[in-house]
Amino acid sequence: MPDRYAVIGHPVAHSRSPWIHAQFARATGEDIEYGAIDVPPAEFAHAVERFRSQSGKGLNVTLPFKLEAFRLCAETSARAAAAQAVNTLVLDRAHLYGDNTDGAGLVRDLTVNLGRPLAGERVLLLGAGGAAQGVLAPLAEAGAAGIVIANRTVPRAEALARRVPGAEACGFDALAGRSFRLVINATSAGLQGELPPLPPGLFGAGALAYDMVYGRDTEFLAMARAAGAATADGLGMLVEQAAESFLVWRGVRPETRAVLAALRAP
Ligand code: ATR
Repeated sequence: MPDRYAVIGHPVAHSRSPWIHAQFARATGEDIEYGAIDVPPAEFAHAVERFRSQSGKGLNVTLPFKLEAFRLCAETSARAAAAQAVNTLVLDRAHLYGDNTDGAGLVRDLTVNLGRPLAGERVLLLGAGGAAQGVLAPLAEAGAAGIVIANRTVPRAEALARRVPGAEACGFDALAGRSFRLVINATSAGLQGELPPLPPGLFGAGALAYDMVYGRDTEFLAMARAAGAATADGLGMLVEQAAESFLVWRGVRPETRAVLAALRAP
C-alpha cells in the first residue's frame, strides 16, 4: 500500500498539486499516492482527523484553511509559527505537526529559478493578508533589506511590519516617487481581476514584478510588463513549496526544473 497524502482546501478541483506530487514520486521512487480533498469550511478539522484515522500521512493545506490549520496543530515549525499559518501537516506523529513551506518556495523560485539573489535587495511587498504574512520572514531571512509593505488597509501593513526589524509599512499612495527592483504582489486583487492602485514609476531599471497568483495573466503583471519590467507568476512558487513539503514528509528533495517546465509547456 502506498503512503497516502492529499491537498485539502475549498475549492481544490483545479489544484495542480496531485499532478506535481505524482511527478515527484515517480522521479524519486517514493511510493506515495496523493489526492485532493474538498471540504466545506465548517468541516476542515473533521476532515483532517478522518484522513489521519485512515492512515493518511500528510496534507497540504490551501485556501481558506491555512490559519485554521495553524490553530489545530499541537506543534509547529519555527517558520509556521512566524507565518501564523500552516500549509503542510504531518499526520504520522503523536501530535499534529504543522510546517509552512510557502516562504521557502517563493525564496527558492526567486533565487534559483529566476536568478534573483535577495541579499541586500530592497523589496516591495504588496498586501498584508495571509499570503504576505507567509512570506515576509523568509524574505527577510534570505537577506532582503528594507522590505516595504504596502497595503490598502494601512494598519494591517503596520502590524505585519512590526514582525520584521527594518520593515516599513505604507499605503499605495505613499509609493509615489519611489522605485524598486523587486515588487511582489501578495494581494488577492488579481483573483477578482483587479489591480491595487499603484503609482507610475514603481519599477526601477531591471525590475522583476512577481505575482503570487498563478495560472492567469493578472492586471498587475500586465501593468508591469507595459512599464518594461520582467514578470513572473506564482507557478514556480507552487512547485517549489510542493518540493519543500515533499522533503518534510519523505526526507528527499525532488528536482523541480522538469516539473515546472512541463507545467509551463503550452
Ligand atoms: P490572502 O490569504 O490571499 O492574503 P487575505 O488575508 O484576505 O487573503 O488578504 C488579501 C490581501 O489582498 C489584503 O492585503 C487585501 O487588502 P486589505 O488588507 O486592505 O483588505 C488585498 N486586496 C484584496 N483585494 C484588493 C484590491 N482590489 N486592491 C488592493 N488590495 C486588495
